[in-house]
Amino acid sequence: MCGIVGYIGQNPSKKILLDGLKELEYRGYDSAGIAVLEGDDFSIYKALGKLHNLEEKAHDFETHDFAIGIGHTRWATHGKPTELNAHPHLGQFSYVVHNGIIENYQELKSMLQSKGVTFLSQTDTEVIVHLFEHMLLTHKEPSEAFARTIEQLHGAYATLLITKQSPDTIYFAKHGSPMILAKNATHGEYFFGSSDAALIGKATQAYYLEDGDYGYVSPQGIVLKHANRTIENPAFTTLPSDRLSAQKEGFRYFMEKEIYEQSTVLADTLMGRLRDDSVYFEELAGLDTRRFSQIKLVACGTSYHSALTASYLFERLAKIHTTVEVASELRYREPLLDKNALFIVISQSGETADTLETLKMAKAAGLTTLVVCNVDNSSMVRLADYAILTRAGIEKGVASTKAFATQVTVLWMLSLFLSALPKERMQAEIATLRQLPETTKVSDTLHEKLKRLSKRYLYGHGFFFIGRDLFYPLALEGALKLKEISYLHAEGYPAGEMKHGPIALADPELITIALMPQTLLYEKTKSNVEELSARDATICAISPLEFDKSDDFIRTHAHAHPMLEFFEMMVILQLLAMEISIRLGNDVDMPRNLAKSVTVE
Ligand code: M6R
Repeated sequence: MCGIVGYIGQNPSKKILLDGLKELEYRGYDSAGIAVLEGDDFSIYKALGKLHNLEEKAHDFETHDFAIGIGHTRWATHGKPTELNAHPHLGQFSYVVHNGIIENYQELKSMLQSKGVTFLSQTDTEVIVHLFEHMLLTHKEPSEAFARTIEQLHGAYATLLITKQSPDTIYFAKHGSPMILAKNATHGEYFFGSSDAALIGKATQAYYLEDGDYGYVSPQGIVLKHANRTIENPAFTTLPSDRLSAQKEGFRYFMEKEIYEQSTVLADTLMGRLRDDSVYFEELAGLDTRRFSQIKLVACGTSYHSALTASYLFERLAKIHTTVEVASELRYREPLLDKNALFIVISQSGETADTLETLKMAKAAGLTTLVVCNVDNSSMVRLADYAILTRAGIEKGVASTKAFATQVTVLWMLSLFLSALPKERMQAEIATLRQLPETTKVSDTLHEKLKRLSKRYLYGHGFFFIGRDLFYPLALEGALKLKEISYLHAEGYPAGEMKHGPIALADPELITIALMPQTLLYEKTKSNVEELSARDATICAISPLEFDKSDDFIRTHAHAHPMLEFFEMMVILQLLAMEISIRLGNDVDMPRNLAKSVTVE
């Protein structure tokens, strides 16, 4: 995903910008660039691929005095990964970098083209710099022209702009994408970063810009505005100096950080892929989806649970016959692989040995293959015919959280992409997808409640996680999360299966975590939970509807769509597992016997 850096000061700009970009590398990117303005001279370098390509190109470039500079790592959304599409983008005498999506860029582009402006790239970003220069025709003051430019942008953005019209100033704006303004004790030196990883070690004080903030910074100081009002004395906070704790951003564990991050990474997953009444995957251009009569989904562990979730969505929404397989089983069972099937592997790492082998098998059998993956350039991404990246950013916790959330989101979008839903239904699904970032935000109240509840769940002879339909794979995932990091015995079951055997275990020492969404088979699930309650099992019910036969009750919001209930319950299960593990004194991020990437069979 894209990264932004910026610098104003006397120190060597190139090194500061490139160092900052390196710290953002983990987010994934396909091209990078920097633009530095020293006096009246712009120096601009762009390169495809890894940062060392950019470093090589800029090898002989140095600044000698005061300079301002902006830099960017681009993860292509509008337009292919090419040098021309890499940021910074040039107007006549200004450069811009941007993260996010300008939703009305086509409209702005047409307006500017009608006034004779020529565009060089296929990006949405380029409209910002041309619009700014166009505004300068009527507003002579660059800060005014910048403010009028920002006013016209719809969508999500974090942007930095530099211009020869004011060669000691960086203009900035934030709406929907992260951006931090930072400084240290050196007078007149300022930094920007889309994450504080780019700033640690360079700056000591940071101001985390709010949506709607914009303004400019020069050696004379900061002018920060919000809705045309100047914010006096913005509240800077101290940046951590220790990189590891900084990477955890104040959270106790990477897993905790990753659970909290789900809201923002899901916005990245959705970015550029939703239209008003359709889903768009640039990655699937050229794929004739009509020729598949079935889908085969293959994965391991948590990714298998995403696959299982997707099977409900593919059949229900896309009406395509779908089968799901555990990779280590498929490998050796001499399967009949049908060329009319789209073969989809799902993997966070893209390196899991069993999944990778099934991908090879499918390719050898002549099937069309697609990987849903979090790591660009991984073995699976390189091997599959098509790849959709989930854009979760690096996941460090061995127990997968945000990778699962982003996989399910991509697969839900894919089921819509393959569907022929009527327009209104499609619009409703897309509107629901747009609510995911909000739905997965962790509230203090919820987290506190789960911390308190967790002390009741440290013993017992086992946990049942139960749910029906989409909530069955979620129950499996909840049980896997708990067992991985707490080492307590936990199993996921379809709620309707209880009386076919597992209910024999019911007693007060058996804890049942019951997923009881109101939008999907509530009454059926409720009966199954009542059967367990009648046998004195300890019940923790998760539902928007009051349930008086439970020992503990976690109330969720009354969403209208099952997937919103799914995502809210997913966060609860992840946090509950983590809090139980913390109370048991386990290593949450590196549980015993487990590895993040399983590259052996
Ligand atoms: O990288 P992958 O998604 O292919 O990994 C598959 C499993 O090894 C992984 O999901 C594992 O189950 C996690 N530890 C779950 O938290």
